[in-house]
Amino acid sequence: MTWIPNRIFVFALALGGLPLAAETPAAAIQRGRAQYVQACGFCHGEDATGNRAPDLVRSPLVNHDVNGDLIAPVIRNGRPDKGMPAFPLSAAAVSDIVAFLHARVDESLHSAHVSNDYPAARLLTGSVQAGRAFFDGAGGCRACHSPAGDLAGVAAKFTPLDLEVRFLYPRGAPRTAAVTTPGGQTFEGRVVHLDEFTVAIRDSGGWYHSWPRSQVRVTVHDPLAGHRELLAKYTDADIHDLFAYLETLK
Ligand code: HEC
Ligand code: HEC
Repeated sequence: MTWIPNRIFVFALALGGLPLAAETPAAAIQRGRAQYVQACGFCHGEDATGNRAPDLVRSPLVNHDVNGDLIAPVIRNGRPDKGMPAFPLSAAAVSDIVAFLHARVDESLHSAHVSNDYPAARLLTGSVQAGRAFFDGAGGCRACHSPAGDLAGVAAKFTPLDLEVRFLYPRGAPRTAAVTTPGGQTFEGRVVHLDEFTVAIRDSGGWYHSWPRSQVRVTVHDPLAGHRELLAKYTDADIHDLFAYLETLK
């Protein structure tokens, strides 16, 4: 059994009798890192923060990816007209690389050494003035935020990369739904589950309710919908300018 990498072996033992063949995320990330360095590192940088090809840690596409749905097609088809070749890798190799890229994003966000790992200077290339103008004007940020109110001190709260990711992909404001039953009664609460067949909410009293979608009328309120629409509107320059402006809110 000496072929089993030490860490995985110890991990499996620690979990008490997991079959040794069990997959661990760490193992996939490890394999993905090796594949990535070999196939992609030359262009995207060994740490994925960019070199002759774009930074993948900050890439909207990578940040929006769920289990490879966006990254895998780019790997398989490449972007030949833009200088990225197609890679005929196995599904397993692609999924390992995807795991590695998500781990890199997490690492950069949560690392205590984020400022070494990811210099703010690399993000701070925009114009504060243009960012303020965009915030007050075309960006429409004023509709929901105020620099002296809810965003006061926001730059002191987060590391530079975390701040950038938070305004691009904010989290923490849950979706709510109003569900009207056939009897005409309406329930409101936080969405716990929502797909084409089922809706489930937890109401303000903490009670869980669930219905088949076909039997009720559902109105979903997503406080972050405004943000997602913005993602399609930003240019790279807007993002850099906004970031430079937000960094002044210390
Ligand atoms: C020869 C250089 C090169 C190699 C090797 C390469 N890429 Fe790329 N990649 C690029 C370029 C250039 C772009 C930008 C294309 C564009 O502007 O649309 C890109 C774009 C991407 C994107 C889209 C980023 C975005 O935000 O739109 C992803 C994801 C990506 N590459 C992943 C990979 C992975 C994973 C590998 C290894 C399997 C890899 N690339 C290998 C050059 C390369
Ligand atoms: C339609 C309303 C809306 C618009 C427009 C909007 N935001 Fe937000 N924003 C939110 C909500 C809701 C949150 C989540 C707040 C929370 O979780 O406390 C948020 C979160 C943020 C955060 C993270 C704050 C934190 O403390 O985590 C930043 C930074 C931010 N937005 C910046 C912007 C910028 C810059 C713009 C304009 C380009 C913008 N927002 C436009 C509603 C909006």
